Amino acid sequence: MTNLKDKVVLITGANKGIGYGIAQSCLEAGMKVAISSRSLAKAKEAATQLENTTGGEVLPLELEVTEYRSQEMAVAETLARFGKLDVLVANAGIGHFTPIDQMEISDWKAVIDTNVNGVFYSMRACADALKASKGYIFTISSLAGTNFFAKGTAYNASKFAVTGFTQAAMLDFRPYDVKVSTIMPGSVTSHFNGHEPSDKDAWKIQPEDIGELIVDLLQINPRTLPSKVEVRPSRPPGS
Ligand SMILES: NC(=O)c1ccc[n+]([C@@H]2O[C@H](COP(=O)([O-])OP(=O)(O)OC[C@H]3O[C@@H](n4cnc5c(N)ncnc54)[C@H](OP(=O)(O)O)[C@@H]3O)[C@@H](O)[C@H]2O)c1
Repeated sequence: MTNLKDKVVLITGANKGIGYGIAQSCLEAGMKVAISSRSLAKAKEAATQLENTTGGEVLPLELEVTEYRSQEMAVAETLARFGKLDVLVANAGIGHFTPIDQMEISDWKAVIDTNVNGVFYSMRACADALKASKGYIFTISSLAGTNFFAKGTAYNASKFAVTGFTQAAMLDFRPYDVKVSTIMPGSVTSHFNGHEPSDKDAWKIQPEDIGELIVDLLQINPRTLPSKVEVRPSRPPGS
């Protein structure tokens, strides 16, 4: 995709955080963007903000990634509004960080359901549209999808799964000229796990940096596929 003008991207979980930054960069590159939240009101609020700051066209969607029907409806709405889908960014995700002996069953299930089943449902629901457009799929895994840490059982399990799942999917989509990459960020300033962004986050990757990375990857020569991309802050505290 050398020219991104009017290409259509659907980003799950994009009313804030990394998804919002990706939406911003895609709009600045001339793309049309569908963003989602579990709350339509929040998606609409973010869409208005994005349209005002970039002058681009944004479709706000209500989407619960753990429900396949909801994912199908989001894709149908995107196709109805824009007529095609070129790019999926399966970004929505959550974390619960607790020692294994204190991990609530409901928290474990929520992390796996959102981060693993949700990503599969997003990709499955978009498959036909992306095969038709010879599109591009990104999943947002994490460095936690290759490095494990204490209190990380649920999150590590989910992100190791996303990393492996995405690479297997890359092989399935390759014969259709659909590209698949997983982005594995380290610390990014966002609202993740109840965090409130502040000046203290200046050393972290910023959401729009992930957006710029995605825009760059979309424009790379089509014969080349960076299938697994690790990104980390250049100078974390103490380095
Ligand atoms: N921040 C980091 O340091 C970091 C590092 C590596 C990877 N990541 C990954 O980046 C992705 C985005 O996280 P973030 O840091 O931007 O966090 P965030 O600011 O909390 O944003 C999370 C987004 O996901 C949506 N979401 C959560 N559960 C959902 C569900 N069940 N259905 C639909 N949407 C849902 C939220 O929307 P609503 O709550 O409005 O529905 C929100 O838009 C996640 O996959 C996360 O694991 C983050």
